[in-house]
Amino acid sequence: MATVPSAVASNASLSPTRQPSNTFTLPPKVRIVSHPLALHKLSILRDKRVKSRQFREVLDEMALLLAMRSTQGLEVTTTQTLESPISTYQGVKLKDRIAVFPILRAGQGLVDGFLQMLPTARVLHLGLYREKSTLLPVEYFNKLPSECTIDLGYVLDPMIATAGTAIAAVNILKDWGLKRIKFIAIVASREGIESLAKAHPDIDIYVVAVDNELSKVGYIVPGLGDAGDRLYKTH
Ligand code: URA
Repeated sequence: MATVPSAVASNASLSPTRQPSNTFTLPPKVRIVSHPLALHKLSILRDKRVKSRQFREVLDEMALLLAMRSTQGLEVTTTQTLESPISTYQGVKLKDRIAVFPILRAGQGLVDGFLQMLPTARVLHLGLYREKSTLLPVEYFNKLPSECTIDLGYVLDPMIATAGTAIAAVNILKDWGLKRIKFIAIVASREGIESLAKAHPDIDIYVVAVDNELSKVGYIVPGLGDAGDRLYKTH
């Protein structure tokens, strides 16, 4: 297991009064995507002056980076012999039947970036929200087909706060029959990533930053604010 200083994990610019005092151990299947472009874009997303249009654009660019990183290592299978302008070559294609599962609303902000890289993936939405007083997940939309014919699913949600919603979404997909799951987020709280990895130790989790704190009302600190509101200008 990798031990990560919180400052490195968060990549946040820290004020002198908020220096992290400790380190924590990343669960084994958590991958921190610390590509310089991801860190640069994260800093833009955190900035409260950034308006919805730019927030959407940068989130979309971030989704591309996360799609590239999280598809590394996927298997390809050979197809038929094809011809280039110069000679024949062996065709290949991705082996897995892939779907993306955006958790509404904010997960929708990562869909286009993933579809640019995986244009034949199915998109299956899951509607879950956090009930304001309890912060517990409530399912309000689920149109999964009756049979699971997907080999690999990418669950998309920019934020893992308490992880209640993330854990519930993965439960739903496992109950449906999905065997391989990768969870994609931009920012997680330390508490949230530990809870998600504990509840579902078999899934891969990709995240750009792990922030130290969760506020009393369930916001990640420093976080991005309410990602759904910032995407859709509903604040
Ligand atoms: N959801 C968000 O959009 N932001 C948070 O900080 C926590 C949950």
